[in-house]
Amino acid sequence: MKDYWIERWKREDIGFHQSDINSYLRQYWQELHLAGGSEVFVPLCGKSRDMLWLRDQGYSVLGVELSAVAVQAFFEENAYSPRRTLRKKFEQWEAHGIRVLCGDFFDLSKDDLEKTSAVYDRASLVALPPDIRERYTFHLLSILPPGTQILLITFDYPQREMPGPPFAVSPGEVEALYRGRAEIRLLAQMDVLEQNPRFQERGLSRLEESIFLLKPYEQTTALKNKNHKG
Ligand SMILES: C[S@@+](CC[C@H](N)C(=O)[O-])C[C@H]1O[C@@H](n2cnc3c(N)ncnc32)[C@H](O)[C@@H]1O
Repeated sequence: MKDYWIERWKREDIGFHQSDINSYLRQYWQELHLAGGSEVFVPLCGKSRDMLWLRDQGYSVLGVELSAVAVQAFFEENAYSPRRTLRKKFEQWEAHGIRVLCGDFFDLSKDDLEKTSAVYDRASLVALPPDIRERYTFHLLSILPPGTQILLITFDYPQREMPGPPFAVSPGEVEALYRGRAEIRLLAQMDVLEQNPRFQERGLSRLEESIFLLKPYEQTTALKNKNHKG
């Protein structure tokens, strides 16, 4: 799967990239009531311009991205001259309040995210195949500081109609992934097939986007919840 993404960036096959700021991010971010100056973590960030918006709201931004092509494009397209340093298994690129760790999300550890207070996940969970989604969720929750909130945007469609990515992640799957591990609030759910001709062309008969606000439990509570539910 890693080679798959590296190749897609090399081929510039990046239909997922949005030239505008994500409208759900603008609309729902306030639900987090996050203090200015907090650090927002953007997993699997690509060259997302949403990082600029978050920075402009007064947060510091930390992204992680596998592809050096994507990271370089992000800084070049914004005419930033990043400071590049080595940080364990990552190369860190940093400029104007935005730090991107170039490397594998699964190599992140708690100390990389010790200042993080919120996570913005758009097209990240849905970028991963089913067997890796559980690993991703587990790893994310294991490295986040207590009290970190997550704004999660997912796609759902009949998986048999199109191979991912983006993969279909139903609200039921989000529930199953985070049950007992986080408080789950569905903020909105929208039918978005009409606004997405590229997915209509790929044969989809239904496409819904859902926005969740997740508040992970302290690990001890999560453990108790799990044991309680057997
Ligand atoms: C569908 S794109 C979404 C990018 C971004 N979130 C956005 O909204 O534009 C998924 C991204 O995850 C990156 N990626 C995939 N697996 C990764 C991993 N294990 N660690 C870090 N980045 C990864 C890919 O290179 C790709 O840029």
